[in-house]
Amino acid sequence: EKGGYDHFMLKEIYEQPRAIKDTYRGRLLADQGLIRMAGIDQNMEKFLNANRIIIVACGTSWHAGLVAEYIFEDLARIPVEVEYASEFRYRNPVITDKDILIAISQSGETADTLAAIKLAKEKGAFVFGVCNVVGSSIARETDAGAYTHAGPEIGVASTKAFTTQITVLTLIALKLAKAKGVFSESRYHEYLTELETIPSKVEKALQSNTLIEIIADVYKDSTNCLYLGRGYNFPVALEGALKLKEISYIHAEGYPAAEMKHGPIALIDEHMPVFVIATKKGHYEKVVSNIQEIKSRKGKIIAIVTEGDEQVRDLADHVIEVPETLESLTPLLTTIPLQLLSYHIAVMRGCNVDQPRNLAKSVTVE
Ligand code: F6R
Repeated sequence: EKGGYDHFMLKEIYEQPRAIKDTYRGRLLADQGLIRMAGIDQNMEKFLNANRIIIVACGTSWHAGLVAEYIFEDLARIPVEVEYASEFRYRNPVITDKDILIAISQSGETADTLAAIKLAKEKGAFVFGVCNVVGSSIARETDAGAYTHAGPEIGVASTKAFTTQITVLTLIALKLAKAKGVFSESRYHEYLTELETIPSKVEKALQSNTLIEIIADVYKDSTNCLYLGRGYNFPVALEGALKLKEISYIHAEGYPAAEMKHGPIALIDEHMPVFVIATKKGHYEKVVSNIQEIKSRKGKIIAIVTEGDEQVRDLADHVIEVPETLESLTPLLTTIPLQLLSYHIAVMRGCNVDQPRNLAKSVTVE
């Protein structure tokens, strides 16, 4: 059942090229210049007339929501707010019938997310679900939705659910960008064809596994780690830190790289590993200067870079390459090495990777 892998988590990490393909199968028709998604097509007017989109989710799904915020605003020019479902539902939020709520949930059973949906429906908002588990409570409670089609995710730490959620949300953003006319035909085509190359690029990113095991061995006894990224890769830093915390029980924090100087930089010394996402597109020079700041304080730098990068390689203690892609698609690639790193560190520490302590796969109580 683990398909020859030692753990479900590793199997699910390796399933991502296939899972992403399954997510866009029948939806992304690049040669016809078409994205087909019934749940969006049937409600296009609502999406086009919406004042804003509110995304609610928890944990890793919330991180996918943060990536989606960048994608929706950047590509489709629709204002987005991303909320922890548990905070949103209890803070008397302002919701109107001109709002669209998108709920993201792998299990489709998360109690707080479900409660946030019910609240938004009461206030007249249109509610759209992005779930993995077919027929789940959230899938049934929403007005419309799109499944991720990632296949069953057994490992408690979410991996392929995250990348497939981002894939679905990217498809939606592209569809809306096209319908709103904010995208030129050529830009739209560039995205569709690039999206089709992502599974093979994820495959390529997975080939760093041996190198990542070596790096994991160097840092496995750390007590604290920082994860930094900017723009589209800021949520990836948060997700990298969460993955490490939950399965290896090492304290880790994700931060927007530029926020470091407002506090966390005080933590940096020769014992602090700092994982930095420093891909070529997206504030590269700024991240390079953040790396220099870490280096001058003797922090250990493990950088996720674009293939062929030389500048960061000269500064960092370790670099892990991912293929080049459009900036907004980079999270689909930069997430991969961080998942593998957490996995190997947890295994080396003797942790129960698939069933970490105190955690459940679906959180049906608030
Ligand atoms: C992290 C993780 C949790 C879930 C969160 C939401 O690896 O698994 O943080 O992402 O409990 O779960 P869903 O997506 O099922 O609503």
